[in-house]
Amino acid sequence: MSSAVRSFLRDDDLSPAEQSHVLDRAAALKAAPYDHKPLAGPRTVATIYDKPTLRTQSSFAAGIAELGGFPMLVDGALAGIGVRESVADVARVLGRQAGVIVWRTFAQVKLDQMAAYAGVPVVNALTDEFHPCQLLADLLTIREHKGTLAGLTVAFLGDAACNMGNSWALAGVTAGMHVRFGAPEGYVPDTEVLARADEIGKATGGSVELHTDASSAVADADVLVTDTWVSMGKEDEAAARTAVFSPYSLTTALVSRAKPDAIVLHCLPAYRGKEIDAEVLDGPQSVVWDEAENRRHAQKAILAFLAEQSGISAPSAELVEAHGTSR
Ligand code: CP
Repeated sequence: MSSAVRSFLRDDDLSPAEQSHVLDRAAALKAAPYDHKPLAGPRTVATIYDKPTLRTQSSFAAGIAELGGFPMLVDGALAGIGVRESVADVARVLGRQAGVIVWRTFAQVKLDQMAAYAGVPVVNALTDEFHPCQLLADLLTIREHKGTLAGLTVAFLGDAACNMGNSWALAGVTAGMHVRFGAPEGYVPDTEVLARADEIGKATGGSVELHTDASSAVADADVLVTDTWVSMGKEDEAAARTAVFSPYSLTTALVSRAKPDAIVLHCLPAYRGKEIDAEVLDGPQSVVWDEAENRRHAQKAILAFLAEQSGISAPSAELVEAHGTSR
C-alpha cells in the first residue's frame, strides 16, 4: 500500500482541479458504465451505514459492482463500532479486509479516526457535518443541465445548519459557484466552513452569501436547492422546525423569482408540502431523479480516483495501454 492514501472525508479534500477531474470521470463512467474496472479482482469495498439510507447504499453497491469490485455490507451495530471495540481497532481490521471503506455515521470525528487508522481510503457516505458524495452528484447534475458550474448562482433554502449546508458551501465555492443560503438567523453553515469557503473562493471566484429573506435568496438564481427540515436525529424537533422553516418552503411562487430556466435539486427523501411544493418537485424544472441516479456515477468516479491516488489501481490510461482496451 502506498503511504499516500487519499480519503474523501469532506468536500474540500478535493482541490478545484481534482473536483473538476472527478466530475469529468463521472461523466465518462456514466457514458460507458461497464468499461472501466479499477476494482477488478474483485477488490472489496466495506460499506457501513449507521443511519437510514436508500440512495447511498443502493448507488454504492451498484457502482462498486460496476467497477469490478465487491460491495461488502458491514453491520455497524453488530460490529459495535466504538462500543465493542474502538473505531481505531475497527479501522485496523477493516483495512486488512477491504481496499476502501465507505461509512455513513454520526460525528465527523469518528470518520476522521477511521481514516487515520485504516491504511486504506475512507469515503464519507454522510456524517452530521458533511455529505460530500451527494454534492458530487449534485454538481454532475447541474453540469449536465447547464453545461458549466463556475459563475452560476445556486440558492439553498431552509436548514443550512446541516451537512448539506456545509457541503454546499465548500463544494459549490470549489466549483466557482455563487452559493446563496436563504435560511433563518442561526441556521447557517458552520463558522469554520464559511471561513474555509471564503478562502477557496479567492482562488475560484466562487462566493457565499447569507440571506434571511427567501425571496432575495432565489432572485435570478440558476439553481434552486432544498432539503428536509428534519435531518436524521432531529425527529423530536419536527414541529418546532416546521414553524421556523415554513417561510423558506420552495413554492411555485419562489421558483418564479429565479431565472426562467432554473433547475430544482433535492437530495431526497422529500416531503411534499413541507420544504417543497409537490408541483415543484414533480414539475418540469425538477431534476431530482437525474440527481439520484448521478449518485452512482459520481461515487464510482471518486472511488476510482482514490484507488488510483492511493496505489490500489493503475491510472485508467495505463490500464488501457497495458491491456490494449478499456477494461
Ligand atoms: N440523499 C441521500 O443520501 O439519500 P439516502 O439517505 O436515502 O441515502
